[in-house]
Amino acid sequence: MYVDEIQLNDFRNYKDGYAAFSQGVNVIYGGNARGKTNILEAVYLLSSARSHRLSRENEMIRFGEKTARITAKFHSRGRDNIGEMTLFPDKKKQIKINRVPIGKTSGLMGFLNTVMFCPEDLRLVKGSPRERRRMMDLGICQLSKKYFHALSQYVKVLEQRNRLLKENPGSQSLWVWDEKLVQYGVEVMLHRKRYLATLGGEARNVHGGICGERLDVAYRCGAAIGDFDDREAAARQFLADLERCHGREQRFGMSLSGPHRDDFSIVIDDREARLYGSQGQQRTAALSLKMAEVSLLRDGTGETPVLLLDDVMSELDLSRQSYILNHIGGVQVIITCTAEPDRAAVFYENAKKINVEEVKR
Ligand SMILES: Nc1ncnc2c1ncn2[C@@H]1O[C@H](COP(=O)(O)OP(=O)(O)O)[C@@H](O)[C@H]1O
Ligand SMILES: [Mg+2]
Repeated sequence: MYVDEIQLNDFRNYKDGYAAFSQGVNVIYGGNARGKTNILEAVYLLSSARSHRLSRENEMIRFGEKTARITAKFHSRGRDNIGEMTLFPDKKKQIKINRVPIGKTSGLMGFLNTVMFCPEDLRLVKGSPRERRRMMDLGICQLSKKYFHALSQYVKVLEQRNRLLKENPGSQSLWVWDEKLVQYGVEVMLHRKRYLATLGGEARNVHGGICGERLDVAYRCGAAIGDFDDREAAARQFLADLERCHGREQRFGMSLSGPHRDDFSIVIDDREARLYGSQGQQRTAALSLKMAEVSLLRDGTGETPVLLLDDVMSELDLSRQSYILNHIGGVQVIITCTAEPDRAAVFYENAKKINVEEVKR
């Protein structure tokens, strides 16, 4: 899939912005704070209904305006599509695909898939488990509606269970929530385990190709489940783990076992990258994971996602830059950078160059 063009109305610093993209490599260049990231954010928003910066919707409406609007023409599922999104300060955003309103975020799935890589993604390696869970969730949600559903239900049940533990720790009805937590939790954990196994294998290939080091990714389950190849057995073990935790949970007033405590380890040549990796190694590991995500999405959906690279090229040496652009044949890439791309670098030769100043109208 690819984005043909995007129109921005009162979105961030754009009153009336327009950009057209090529199906291959696109480079948006221009000085600091000129609105380069804002364009990628708009594409990302249309694909996932969320800002990659985790901004609130009213923050994305141009200062002093009432609504923001993003319109994009993109190609996927064998046809040309039009995506429209309107943001409001005080009510839910409206999304239309091909003029048809999309009620739920899940209805947006599969129309436009993107993978974003930005400097903050170093947090994948260095940051808290929350960052890594977010990566898994975003990756798997683009692949599986079943996962999206299980995860949303799990989050709801978890909230209710936590409220009960806080407000009425001695309640006899905890078991009701336990059963639901197990039902959705096992689904979430099984998906994550399988996803990481494939992602890890793919990321190892990429990482080895880029720098020759060995990357290992391993799922760390937030419940004491051990081996869960058998779904029924996993459910029994998760339930048993919850029961074991009851006493402590009532004291702490929160749920202590389950996928909300999941994590995964990132290991380079047998050393935990978070603790022992150099900045460069961590960056390469994060990049390898993102590139692996592109492959998984392509294999899982039969379509290539759009790769959005925000400000990361200048931090990578030429061999890494060339690796990225040469190993992802057929993928549309939209890159931002502060300087006009190095003309000497052959891999930018065929790129479409877009001056951010010309996006504004
Ligand atoms: N809601 C908004 N209304 C108007 N301008 C905004 C809004 N949000 C951000 N901006 C402006 O957008 C600019 C930053 O854009 P960004 O895309 O992050 O720049 P860069 O080119 O460095 O990637 C800043 O000048 C900021 O003031
Ligand atoms: Mg930027």
